[in-house]
Amino acid sequence: MARITASVYTSHVPAIGAALDLGKSNEPYWQPLFAGYDFSKQWLKDNKPDVVFLVFNDHATAFSLDMIPTFAIGTADSYQPADEGWGPRPVPVVKGHAPLASHIAQSVIQQDFDLTIVNRMDVDHGLTVPLSLMCGQTEAWPFPVIPFAVNVVQYPVPSGRRCFMLGQAIRRAVESFDEDLNVQIWGTGGMSHQLQGPRAGLINADWDNKFLDRLIADPDGLSKVPHIDYVREAGSEGIELVMWLIARGAMADVAGGKPPKVARRFFHVPASNTAVGHLILENQ
Ligand code: DHB
Ligand code: FE
Repeated sequence: MARITASVYTSHVPAIGAALDLGKSNEPYWQPLFAGYDFSKQWLKDNKPDVVFLVFNDHATAFSLDMIPTFAIGTADSYQPADEGWGPRPVPVVKGHAPLASHIAQSVIQQDFDLTIVNRMDVDHGLTVPLSLMCGQTEAWPFPVIPFAVNVVQYPVPSGRRCFMLGQAIRRAVESFDEDLNVQIWGTGGMSHQLQGPRAGLINADWDNKFLDRLIADPDGLSKVPHIDYVREAGSEGIELVMWLIARGAMADVAGGKPPKVARRFFHVPASNTAVGHLILENQ
């Protein structure tokens, strides 16, 4: 059967992708940020997944106000990097895993979560920047990816609680797939940031670090935090962090297994207007 072996969490700031693509990663501003992912790149080589289930949000690139799915699963064979206004990032096409994605769609919908099935979608920085941070610059991404898009852009957004429960359903779905596959689940977005209005530039490092503490040790309690607390404390775009609870809900301890091992924890301020957080949790 397929198994979820680890979860990875990371911010997805678009300026990080631009810094890499423009050859700026060794500049003094960016060097400490990229250095924080050196361990993780090696870890990913040593713990190469067969498939990554990547939870991210689309930033009005593939979806617009015309149609806003709360949860959308990519069931295609491949996904093109999106043009976000400056041309598509010069990164490889993202290959999908249609058989596992279709199985997860079937299982999770039958567990009473409403998913939108997406057979064609371009993927923006929300998905490609985490891949770049974890894989570096490469000719081809080293594994197929199942993109899972969550609406955290247009209110109403799903609660942390629902995201956490959805992660549990995704775990059950993966474990009911017949093929022996090593699956990682990644949660992306955040940490604290606000891009518009009078509070633009808000960063709350204290709240972010408490979020990381609780994500590791008290995910059930953390999942009960209402969305308005994210907005007040972590800024209007800090709500992206609810997506980390989907990945955390899929870990073994939530289903009665052992607590995960913290393989990596990293926090850095600033990257553009944003606090960057990163965790790797391994199932034991
Ligand atoms: C920015 C955009 C994002 O989607 C994000 O998650 C963080 C920062 C930005 O435009 O700076
Ligand atoms: Fe974002």
